[in-house]
Amino acid sequence: MKKLGKIFAELLAERGIQKIGSLSKRVPGRDSGDKLQEIATAVLEGYGAICRLKKPAYIAWDLEGNPVHWAEYAFVHSSIAGKFEPVLTSEDLKSVLPDYPYFIIDLMHWGLHSRKEKIKVALQSAQSYGVIRDYLWGERLALTWVNGEFKALSNFPLDKITAYEGSTAEFLKEKGIEDVVLLDPRAEKELGQDDLNAGAFVIGGIVDTSGKKKGTTARIGEALENAGIRVRRRKIALRGDIVGVPDRINMILDIMLRILVEGKPAEKAILEVQAPLQARWRLRKELPRRKTRFMVNGKKFLVVERELFDEYSEWLNIRWEDFVKVLKELDFVALERRRIHHLKKISVPRIINGRAYYVILLKKAAMMCYNC
Ligand SMILES: C[S@@+](CC[C@H](N)C(=O)[O-])C[C@H]1O[C@@H](n2cnc3c(N)ncnc32)[C@H](O)[C@@H]1O
Repeated sequence: MKKLGKIFAELLAERGIQKIGSLSKRVPGRDSGDKLQEIATAVLEGYGAICRLKKPAYIAWDLEGNPVHWAEYAFVHSSIAGKFEPVLTSEDLKSVLPDYPYFIIDLMHWGLHSRKEKIKVALQSAQSYGVIRDYLWGERLALTWVNGEFKALSNFPLDKITAYEGSTAEFLKEKGIEDVVLLDPRAEKELGQDDLNAGAFVIGGIVDTSGKKKGTTARIGEALENAGIRVRRRKIALRGDIVGVPDRINMILDIMLRILVEGKPAEKAILEVQAPLQARWRLRKELPRRKTRFMVNGKKFLVVERELFDEYSEWLNIRWEDFVKVLKELDFVALERRRIHHLKKISVPRIINGRAYYVILLKKAAMMCYNC
């Protein structure tokens, strides 16, 4: 799947245009760090067109998005585009857009949410609009079961996405889509390469602050299957576990687009989106598996290797302070591997209340306290 900016660059190249500029420093839309994508989005959404200039523009980029000194073609805002010769308009770009899958946020469970949660669903939907425009274009994001309350709460242009008042099944039937991937954290199977060919990817428009909506994503799948749609329920997992995978709607969309559009492996896509908060959730689950029990003069210590920080920071977005925070929460102590090795050597292994401990006399434990 190509980024909109790439499709746009190819169209410019076909027209013999190798670099484009802008008459103003700011192109409408959000600053994504990808100029071609931003200009393509602004053109597609009708904020302006690419025109031939009478004098060169000195804010300019080549078709890879690298800054160049000047260009004789530029993005011109629609308010003044009439003064210039247009060479690429919104219609031109629309006519070459491929038929990519839809990314659907299914609002079937809207009614289960509290007012606060509804605001969050609306906010995450607005953020999803920002995310889809970083890779593709607004129309590929579909929201189904859209109602008046959602419209009132949503603070983004619904006419720039595909807002649908009916059910997801009706939407899919209208579009002739028979096979979807439903992103479901409770699915048995993990999302794989062979799932990336689906006609649509469905994300539950669900915010679960109370923990009362467990399993509700599966009900979206049941409703689709009852309407005759083939549903592949798939989870996004990080090294076999969903803990540590961000679960916000816009973040799931972001991960999917990094996989589908940028061709990144799932683990890399997850890590690029994962915040330290979610990384800590996972670390909290990982560290207890790696602990060693010591008993020093009758006092119990749960010890992990300090070097685990380096190991986990390779696949979790943790900083040293996150590692320390989780250690404190778990009441664990981190010691260098060689010190643990030494302490094991001066200890006596014992089973206490069914658990294995390394028992050390107080005198010999002085070194351990020093390291605490
Ligand atoms: C906050 S989650 C709601 C999950 C809901 N409580 C449940 O148990 O079904 C919102 C949506 O994000 C998507 N999602 C979140 N985490 C996911 C994961 N690890 N894998 C796949 N989809 C996920 C799902 O589409 C889900 O409906």
